[in-house]
Amino acid sequence: CGIVAYIGYSEAFPILINGLKHLEYRGYDSSGIALLQKGQTTNIFKKKGKVKELERYCEGKDMTGCLGMAHTRWATHGEPNDTNAHPHVSMRRLFTIVHNGIIENYGKLKKDLSEKGYTFYSETDTEVLANLIEYMYVQGEVLDAEQAVRMALSRVVGAFGLVVMCQAEALKLIAARRSSPLAIGIGQNEYYLASDATPLVEYTQRVVYLDDNDVAILTSNSFTLKTIDVDKEKIPEIQKLELSIGALEKNGYDHFMLKEIFEQPETIEASFRGRINTKNNEIILGRLTDVMPRILEAQRIVLIACGTSWHAALIGEYLIEELARIPVEVEYASEFRYRNPVLSSNDVVLAISQSGETADTLSAVRMAKEHQAMVLGICNVVGSSMSRETDAGIYTHAGSEIGVASTKAFTAQVTVLTLLALRLARLKQTIPEERFHAIVTDLLAAPEKIRTILQSSNHIQYIANKYRDAVNALYLGRGYLFPVALEGALKLKEISYIHAEGYAAGEMKHGPIALIDNNIPVVVVAPKDRYYEKVVSNIQEVKARKGNVIAVVSMGDNRLKGMVNDVLEIPESDPIVTPLLTVIPLQLFAYYIAVLRGCDVDQPRNLAKSVTVE
Ligand code: G6P
Repeated sequence: CGIVAYIGYSEAFPILINGLKHLEYRGYDSSGIALLQKGQTTNIFKKKGKVKELERYCEGKDMTGCLGMAHTRWATHGEPNDTNAHPHVSMRRLFTIVHNGIIENYGKLKKDLSEKGYTFYSETDTEVLANLIEYMYVQGEVLDAEQAVRMALSRVVGAFGLVVMCQAEALKLIAARRSSPLAIGIGQNEYYLASDATPLVEYTQRVVYLDDNDVAILTSNSFTLKTIDVDKEKIPEIQKLELSIGALEKNGYDHFMLKEIFEQPETIEASFRGRINTKNNEIILGRLTDVMPRILEAQRIVLIACGTSWHAALIGEYLIEELARIPVEVEYASEFRYRNPVLSSNDVVLAISQSGETADTLSAVRMAKEHQAMVLGICNVVGSSMSRETDAGIYTHAGSEIGVASTKAFTAQVTVLTLLALRLARLKQTIPEERFHAIVTDLLAAPEKIRTILQSSNHIQYIANKYRDAVNALYLGRGYLFPVALEGALKLKEISYIHAEGYAAGEMKHGPIALIDNNIPVVVVAPKDRYYEKVVSNIQEVKARKGNVIAVVSMGDNRLKGMVNDVLEIPESDPIVTPLLTVIPLQLFAYYIAVLRGCDVDQPRNLAKSVTVE
């Protein structure tokens, strides 16, 4: 979900709608706005569907007010409809609230409030919270809205990033966070709030990221920071925003996803920047310098992530084990977090996340810290919760990723993992000198090779058109390209809604082979590497059962060309670098199929870019 709020002297509505559009990638099943003008009642406008539905709904209505808040929702409690959309109001309409996260004890709180005479119009946990704040306020034990909010939040179990307006204190916004991010942009006698910095960059470069349990009290000319438990002022730490407005535009591309796919040569170069000494190929990971001895001594490295980042982690496992000979395990953050793993101070946990805000990954980070493991991060968003909660880390520097289906963040993660594996290998002397230089040289050549692959996008579109009506698809690969097959399948299912499965090619005979008939496209990642002959055998097994094979092959591979239905060619490279190259045609293939099927590529149904609930 996404939150925006504004307090100042300008009309809030345009700022809020604009902000919602920037945050829509975080959830888009319903949205809403609340505006407050001193001396008047709070006006609330809510609509199921995307932000443009809300915008249309607000046309011609009185949208004045210099104080307001807005929300775009990814449903957790209650189906997406106008009623369950945020903002929510308390029963006496004294408090209006927008909220990200989940109030875990909302059932109990709701029961207690019901016994005190409260009634509820929605199924949301947020409405319960609005009423709890109101109850604290009207009970008379507190002085003002700020105290009511702090007292209510001290009774809440769960996660929240929230903003509250109080009808009786109409010149104030109160914001708080626990596990769900909030950034405050500082203007001249005005403040902007949002769940991430993207909506703020148009207005200000100065921002404060709230910490867990922080409460901010904003008027148009004052910013007071406290914590939920302690009624004492803290000094806000103001940071300079390093986002550019240009990064938030489509720059002539039809979709953000397409733009982000095409940006990959540059984003990979950005992840190299300052990290490879081109004179001697040495790798420098500055932020890891202090912790390097501990990584080298680790009994194992545990990689934790979700979604696409988890696929990058799988590639990381193969890379670190092969090059640096350190045992690695890969875990879904949501599983790791709850399964009581064996973990100690001899372990290094490396969390991978584009957003740095995924709730499961953050919980796993916290849990690992409790077990005294050293916790590192690979993260794209500078200043995110993960980057602040880990002991050290590496930024991927891929720039803002707006398309919900991750592309450039993935290749940046794989790049950074390759650099890490190479650095560890160098320090441990686990690979010969020449091999090290050969890999670095090939890695540096990857952006140029990706440019070549991107030039074949018309051909990929042509092939996509042949398979656009598929109902199921199978993706196969071996070694480093098994996770690439998983990622290819995930891209297709996320944006085209075609059911797709990724499989280790060698495992196909143990089950998925039953799916093969003359309707199913089977995408096989088969460049020339040490598994090539084995993969060719797998392709023959598919062909013998009349499956349609689309193979990602090394340029000039006439043998496979003669054997399969379609080929997507990539330039040859060291196997260590092939994940970066082979994933590109798979991203484009998924993209074109989704476009041809008329799907909403940048905002696929039911998904959200950053899932801040567990
Ligand atoms: C969501 C997104 C995925 C993403 C995953 C992990 O499910 O839709 O694209 O891979 O979260 O996100 P993270 O920000 O932690 O990498």
